[in-house]
Amino acid sequence: MSSALFSPYKLAGLKLANRIVVSPMCQYSADDGCANDWHLMHLGMLANSGAALVIVEATHVERYGRITHGCLGLYSDDNEAALARVIASARRTGTAKFGIQIAHAGRKASAQKPWEGAGPLTPDADPWPTMAASPIPFGENWHTPREVTEADMERVRHAFVTAAQRSLRIGFDEIELHMAHGYLAHGFMSPISNKRTDQYGGSLENRLRFPLSIARAVRKVVPKGVPLGARITGSDWREGGLAPDDAVAISKALKAEGIDFICISSGGVTAGIHNPTEPGYNVPIATRVRKEAGIPTRTVGLIVKPQQAEEIVAKGEADMVSMARCFLDDPHWGWHAAKALGAEVARPPQYQRAGPKLWAPAAAKA
Ligand SMILES: Cc1cc2nc3c(=O)[nH]c(=O)nc-3n(C[C@H](O)[C@H](O)[C@H](O)COP(=O)(O)O)c2cc1C
Repeated sequence: MSSALFSPYKLAGLKLANRIVVSPMCQYSADDGCANDWHLMHLGMLANSGAALVIVEATHVERYGRITHGCLGLYSDDNEAALARVIASARRTGTAKFGIQIAHAGRKASAQKPWEGAGPLTPDADPWPTMAASPIPFGENWHTPREVTEADMERVRHAFVTAAQRSLRIGFDEIELHMAHGYLAHGFMSPISNKRTDQYGGSLENRLRFPLSIARAVRKVVPKGVPLGARITGSDWREGGLAPDDAVAISKALKAEGIDFICISSGGVTAGIHNPTEPGYNVPIATRVRKEAGIPTRTVGLIVKPQQAEEIVAKGEADMVSMARCFLDDPHWGWHAAKALGAEVARPPQYQRAGPKLWAPAAAKA
């Protein structure tokens, strides 16, 4: 039985052993943006999960661009050295390749960790000023961001470029720009959060101007062989917000800037919006983007079962599947999916004896 999910894939110059990607997941556990032993354990664990590629959590390009006090950053030499230590270790001990998501949280910055409430930081918790496309808070009681100026755009663009250069020095195999979930770039793209009347607001072309300028600047420093992608919002799930037609147009525009792949996620533009809860809810949007924009596409969101992931790739609905929570629940998800689909997956030699042979006697008895 040959599996589409476990077939190799080439993305720009990157050869991937299969189509399974571990989605970026904030750990809210860094020290002033620096990775530590938690990340060493977390990423080391996922390096042997059977996924061809693990994407490191949203890693912020400036200190004030972090979501929480515990978010990763790449805004200092200390940040770079700390992440380099973790990635070098995970590479030495694991089978996966590593990508990184670089990000700026915009009006969703200065927030509490999820286990502290996930709201805005209170005055006694060292909050910081936030900025966004327009001075509209993310939700009730959230900080009011100031409107991003041209000087801010210049600084943030440069910070994205610097963070990409740091990522390349660390040796990441792929870089993903975070342009989803209501953070700074998505905040510009969505008509819900962008009410500007200058050349950065109004039409989709205007709302895309700043995010596209980030993609263009970063592309200039990321060599062609290293895939540079963007995670975008396929739908704001809100009347008057971004919809799948926009996702297609945004993907085409990013492709024209030299972006190699799109990851379709959705939601997050304002507080109180709930994403759909049916399995693979973003898949139909990804399928449209893949076909209509003609760009390698990955998608995410309630893809949890091996057969479900297999079908998405086999039917050409997406080129890669990205999964988050199921890898926290089962850090060997890829091994177990390979067993279910009768496919081969890389394991470190130390763990070879736990391979399919372990299950063969039980299968013979059954
Ligand atoms: C703990 C946690 C942290 C997350 N952090 C990020 C992140 O850093 N960047 C991002 O784009 N999405 C982040 N997400 C969203 C996931 O990447 C993913 O898109 C979402 O959980 C839906 O996929 P799933 O149903 O497979 O979990 C996070 C999700 C979780 C559960």
